[in-house]
Amino acid sequence: MKQKLVLKLVLLGDPGVGKTSLISQFVHARFRHSYQLTVGLDISSKQVQLDDGRTVTLSINDIGGQARFAAIRHMFFKGAHLAMFVYDVTRAETLDNIKDPWFKELMEFCGRSSKTKAAIQTILVGNKTDLEDYRMIEEEEGIQLAKEINAKGHISASAKENIQVDEAFKTLAQSFFDEI
Ligand code: GTP
Repeated sequence: MKQKLVLKLVLLGDPGVGKTSLISQFVHARFRHSYQLTVGLDISSKQVQLDDGRTVTLSINDIGGQARFAAIRHMFFKGAHLAMFVYDVTRAETLDNIKDPWFKELMEFCGRSSKTKAAIQTILVGNKTDLEDYRMIEEEEGIQLAKEINAKGHISASAKENIQVDEAFKTLAQSFFDEI
């Protein structure tokens, strides 16, 4: 019997960095200009074909970045296989916040270590690279932080222009198999 592998993916990052937009571009090939904050949680799923021909289904948990949704967020971190940290390249504080609170919260509530074999796999995404004139964070700073939090890598993306969005999700999905 053929089995379907479903990996639970959570996105983390400050309000407005573009978590919903990255998902919307990846899953529906759509971009919305107006900001609609995510209230609580939104789950979507998409099948991904990896380079080696393997197919996995990502269950993508979009969890509102607002402080008031912290309790709901923590519940949904549990059991996640994959996590995508997102910051906005035009707002310096969104990168500062990746380590604390976002990385810290994930490690506390996901129920996996960041280093063991069954570790949660993570990736860091710098979003809104189309706003080059307003850039506050150099790519090098993102790459450095990705190393510090032991992430699989760093990707510069634009949900608006659909730059490197598929790559971010696929690289993350692939990293699950690199570790087993
Ligand atoms: P919360 O739901 O509050 O956690 O926010 P979020 O991280 O899901 O952000 P969301 O995707 O709702 O995007 C916030 C705003 O940024 C919206 O107005 C988007 O249109 C805009 N935005 C998202 N991605 C990009 C991008 O790549 N480029 C530009 N220029 N704007 C973007």
